[in-house]
Amino acid sequence: MAKMEVKTSLLDNMIGVGDMVLLEPLNEETFINNLKKRFDHNEIYTYIGSVVISVNPYRSLPIYSPEKVEDYRNRNFYELSPHIFALSDEAYRSLRDQDKDQCILITGESGAGKTEASKLVMSYVAAVCGKGAEVNQVKEQLLQSNPVLEAFGNAKTVRNDNSSRFGKYMDIEFDFKGDPLGGVISNYLLEKSRVVKQPRGERNFHVFYQLLSGASEELLNKLTLERDFSRYNYLSLDSAKVNGVDDAANFRTVRNAMQIVGFMDHEAESVLEVVAAVLKLGNIEFKPESRVNGLDESKIKDKNELKEICELTGIDQSVLERAFSFRTVEAKQEKVSTTLNVAQAYYARDALAKNLYSRLFSWLVNRINESIKAQTKVRKKVMGVLDIYGFEIFENADNSFEQFIINYCNEKLQQIFIELTLKEEQEEYVREGIEWTHIDYFNNAIICDLIENNTNGILAMLDEECLRPGTVTDETFLEKLNQVCATHQHFESRMSKSSRFLNDTSLPHSCFRIQHYAGKVLYQVEGFVDKNNDLLYRDLSQAMWKAGHTLIKSLFPEGNPAKINLKRPPTAGSQFKASVATLMKNLQTKNPNYIRCIKPNDKKAAHIFSEALVCHQIRYLGLLENVRVRRAGYAFRQAYEPCLERYKMLCKQTWPHWKGPARAGVEVLFNELEIPVEEYSFGRSKIFIRNPRTLFKLEDLRKQRLEDLATLIQKIYRGWKCRTHFLLMRKSQIVIAAWYRRYAQQKRYQQIKSSTLVIQSYIRGWKARKILRELKHRKRCEEAATTIAAYWHGTQARRELKRLKEEARRKHAVAVIWAYWLGLKVRREYRKFFRANAGKKIYEFTLQRIVQKYFLEMKNKMPSLSPIDKNWPPRPYLFLDSTHKELKRIFHLWRCKKYRDQFTDQQKLIYEEKLEASELFKDKKALYPSSVGQPFQGAYLEINKNPKYKKLKDAIEEKIIIAEVVNKINRANGKSTSRIFLLTNNNLLLADQKSGQIKSEVPLVDVTKVSMSSQNDGFFAVHLKEGSEAASKGDFLFSSDHLIEMATKLYRTTLSQTKQKLNIEISDEFLVQFRQDKVCVKFIQGNQKNGSVPTCKRKNNRLLEVAVP
Ligand SMILES: Nc1ncnc2c1ncn2[C@@H]1O[C@H](COP(=O)(O)OP(=O)(O)OP(=O)(O)O)[C@@H](O)[C@H]1O
Ligand SMILES: [Mg+2]
Repeated sequence: MAKMEVKTSLLDNMIGVGDMVLLEPLNEETFINNLKKRFDHNEIYTYIGSVVISVNPYRSLPIYSPEKVEDYRNRNFYELSPHIFALSDEAYRSLRDQDKDQCILITGESGAGKTEASKLVMSYVAAVCGKGAEVNQVKEQLLQSNPVLEAFGNAKTVRNDNSSRFGKYMDIEFDFKGDPLGGVISNYLLEKSRVVKQPRGERNFHVFYQLLSGASEELLNKLTLERDFSRYNYLSLDSAKVNGVDDAANFRTVRNAMQIVGFMDHEAESVLEVVAAVLKLGNIEFKPESRVNGLDESKIKDKNELKEICELTGIDQSVLERAFSFRTVEAKQEKVSTTLNVAQAYYARDALAKNLYSRLFSWLVNRINESIKAQTKVRKKVMGVLDIYGFEIFENADNSFEQFIINYCNEKLQQIFIELTLKEEQEEYVREGIEWTHIDYFNNAIICDLIENNTNGILAMLDEECLRPGTVTDETFLEKLNQVCATHQHFESRMSKSSRFLNDTSLPHSCFRIQHYAGKVLYQVEGFVDKNNDLLYRDLSQAMWKAGHTLIKSLFPEGNPAKINLKRPPTAGSQFKASVATLMKNLQTKNPNYIRCIKPNDKKAAHIFSEALVCHQIRYLGLLENVRVRRAGYAFRQAYEPCLERYKMLCKQTWPHWKGPARAGVEVLFNELEIPVEEYSFGRSKIFIRNPRTLFKLEDLRKQRLEDLATLIQKIYRGWKCRTHFLLMRKSQIVIAAWYRRYAQQKRYQQIKSSTLVIQSYIRGWKARKILRELKHRKRCEEAATTIAAYWHGTQARRELKRLKEEARRKHAVAVIWAYWLGLKVRREYRKFFRANAGKKIYEFTLQRIVQKYFLEMKNKMPSLSPIDKNWPPRPYLFLDSTHKELKRIFHLWRCKKYRDQFTDQQKLIYEEKLEASELFKDKKALYPSSVGQPFQGAYLEINKNPKYKKLKDAIEEKIIIAEVVNKINRANGKSTSRIFLLTNNNLLLADQKSGQIKSEVPLVDVTKVSMSSQNDGFFAVHLKEGSEAASKGDFLFSSDHLIEMATKLYRTTLSQTKQKLNIEISDEFLVQFRQDKVCVKFIQGNQKNGSVPTCKRKNNRLLEVAVP
């Protein structure tokens, strides 16, 4: 990626000039205009060589983002537009890589942005230096020390809402890798007078307001404070609130920061207790009390406040009360105690408050130092950041001791700046082997000397005055100054003997004026002595030492009676001088980096650039001087490589690549461009350009050339782009065309195909229809032909038929006519031969002929002679119907006679019997049909032949008509017994089947009736004549297989013997006389369970039931 990095330069896209060294022409006006132009374009930073000028934008700009930090990280100083980060990066890298201790000196007047600048430097360094939990903690502690110190050391002033009221120098220590180890903070001269009194429109230190706004009720109660600012005399009321500042929130921030920095809870609490005590001290008021000896004495008005302070700080109330009333002076074992008047008491109170607060502040700094100090003893690299109050000039001779001290400090800083800048410049010339020419510049050493000279310097004289016995006042001090410094060219006063200022009556009486490097400042001498002495009555310091509050006790070590020191403490002036001297020494050992802050307006407003105000600052900061020093010899210098890299396009030999060493390239380049030799000089590693004009000429040429090159590149690029585009388009066009053609052809083909199909189908349809039509036509023709033919044939046939019919009719007619004619002719001829009844004779004759024919035909058609043959030929003529039937009957009778004539006598008898049976039983008894086929045998038992029945045979003399075994039904139970049934001409006999013994004999005359059922059974009852001998035993009930035969024979025999018809009753229910009883015999048909044989059962006395299957 590094190779891809675009090489840029400060000179790119400059607004005005980024480096004042390049300003042409150089004067105050162009300088300010350049600043203004840049300021208007939000370029608040401008260089003078390596010095950064920063103009306060009074609004947040988007130029401190993490991305910006990355931009400036590891880039060369002149590579990007001027920025405080560039300076920080340069300082940090030269500390890390070249092992050079650095100091960053930030100067400028109040509100110019020094503190902000110092914070930006710290945050940049924090962002780019090493990382890791431990390192991050150190960083955090270093950064968080700022809010704590700002709360206690900053205040709202008319110039700045967050004005630092102390000088601060912070050493940040790093290890060899560049990781932060810790830091040391030094503080300079806190403006402690602010604790007791603030100018109009200003505030006390932030912490008082933060405490009252942000502390919890509980904390306030503990500190016996009230939230109301107006309750405290030390808090000016007119601007207690600052716009856009949230004191309560800041209080929490500060408490949090204290915690991060490492304050223990009880320490933080102690600090707040001291703050509360200071606030409450302001509320102690005194009233005068005359004493008898005439001396003024003061008395505390309201002891309540005092009591609370004492409770808070653990001081014995009486001790403190006494300290406010008496002053003890000790000299050589002598103690003199004097009373304090009211004014002195107030003075003492304020002095105590101021001291308490300023010592607390110093303690805080030490405490922070303790926390942030490096933990290791390894060698450290140091980066010092100095944020010190800038040059201060109040109008109307309001400048006092503080301003004097501050300005002295700035004077010293300017001196060190000049020294170091020149030294650096000189060193560079030597390093680069360029001849050093003397540079004319203003050296402010003379002013420093005026102030700090040990014998006749202003500070020395002030100390002298302060230590001098006798009455010492500010006036005596001024007199002394007038005596000693009168001749000094930078000192002026009304009493000055200097002839140059003789006429200067503008100077007030109690003032003196010093012509500082940055301008003249009129100092009001009042308070110098007092402030220099910075006295705190010993009684008070002793009272404080006696406090139970450990922090307060530790703040006043001189109060310890054991360590009583009669020597006066060093004066404020000498203390400051000493610390400034140490600071200077310290700074001299380091590589300086300058940030010069400028305040664009007095209104704390954005976008306003007050030229007069800026002009004033430029003057006293000596910035023009600065530029002049910087470009005393050569205005611009640059290493050969970047120089060649930047301008190589200006010469054919060096463009696009120079093969040799960079220096040779630059030489060739400068020769080619015909730059006058006196305008530049070749150093060892750098080219030095005397005049900015030359550089700008180079820049212009470069710009021109770049434009040409850009045009060329653009041209080629455009050509290339167009061609690529064209080629692409052509390729695309071909592809599209191919596709389109394919598509179009496909579509056309489809169209043709479908059209063809349509046409084809139409043609085929047309053809088919044509053929169909033809076929139909042909078919119709054929049909028509056939029809015509048929009609024709029909016509022909009909014609022929007609003709034939006509012919036939004619023939017939001819025949008829002929017949008639013939008949007529015959009749005419034979008339004379015929009788009148010839017709009747012909009729009879014809009839005779027909009957004759009928009989002759009948003879041939005669049926068989079988009486049962039912055939008879059909009748030929209707009129012979009756004859035909009669003939049939006669024929049947005849053949029956014929048939009968064949029978023998025996056969005749049998048939007679059968006929008899038929007459008796046909259609009356169901058993009858089965008997028709059976021949009536009569004697089934051959009694003659069976020896068993010999006796029986012997007993019977008559002819036996029937001999058969029958079942005689027992009258008691309906069961049957076998009996031989014998019928003779006169008797009916019953015999035992086994023995053949006759059991009963009944003469036929006694038989009255035979009863039987109509059913298919063989039961029959023989009823006997009542009163007869045979009837004594009652009627007989039999069953026999030959019932029909037996009944018929019994009937015939009875008829032939007795000439009486035997009564045969056929009924399914009849009565039978059994001895005395009449029993009903009932026949029931269809009872399945009795099987196929009829069964008889006696049901009761009167009923005998026969079940017939
Ligand atoms: N770079 C900056 N960007 C935005 N605002 C700034 C910047 N520098 C300073 N300011 C504004 O200007 C105000 C004053 O700045 P700062 O406190 O740094 O001044 P100073 O030089 O430290 O003054 P003093 O000498 O009174 O301490 C800041 O509170 C801030 O509002
Ligand atoms: Mg500040």
